[in-house]
Amino acid sequence: MKLVKRIANLGYGSRKDVAHLFREGRVTDAAGEVLYADDDVAHADIRIDGDPLDPASGLLLMLHKPLGYTCSTSDPGRIVYDLLPTRFRRRKPLLSTVGRLDRDTSGLLLMTDDGALLHRIIAPKTHLPKVYEATLARDLRGDEAALFASGTLMLEAEREPLAPASLEVLDARHARLTLIEGRYHQVRRMFAAVGNHVETLHRPRIGGLGLDTLGPGEWRLLDDNDRARLFAPPPPA
Ligand code: URA
Repeated sequence: MKLVKRIANLGYGSRKDVAHLFREGRVTDAAGEVLYADDDVAHADIRIDGDPLDPASGLLLMLHKPLGYTCSTSDPGRIVYDLLPTRFRRRKPLLSTVGRLDRDTSGLLLMTDDGALLHRIIAPKTHLPKVYEATLARDLRGDEAALFASGTLMLEAEREPLAPASLEVLDARHARLTLIEGRYHQVRRMFAAVGNHVETLHRPRIGGLGLDTLGPGEWRLLDDNDRARLFAPPPPA
């Protein structure tokens, strides 16, 4: 793909805008030599105004989604894309959230422009555990773990029962729930199905990846080691 198009696809502007950057000598190589639109240069060697180019397509990042943000591109309120460089919203292929967290859920959100990778992460057959911590409005009854693990729980308006899920009771009103699927509002609906109500919900982990030191609103690109960790969760303690 031509350099101008490659750079335009990263959200730096239209092809015309990017051609303009070249004409102004703002696109250089790592040594500061001005590049021309028909040059053949490796991605890692390109600088714009001295800064390295954003990652090429195939990127995967993790964001610590704060409360109050939606996983939408069009909601008039706060959206997760507001927490990333504005350019990222204009990338082609599109940068999508890997599944969704509700506006009132915080925690680890993955985003990628790689459709096959996205599918692999969310597909139940991959069995990638998504871990949620819930604060509940009422005390747990005691039978929830068995019901959630049974693989027979049917949520309203669903055609298939939920896949078995594991519930760890932390105390009467706090629980950790591990799911391998991601149906609409699944955690809230599961607790509603047992007469409870989720007051706060946080996702600290997907597969072998945790938020580590990432504070609310912070994000970072994931490298090959992170990807390997994502798909190779540590065995349960
Ligand atoms: N389940 C929910 O109910 N909400 C989320 O945000 C994620 C899982």
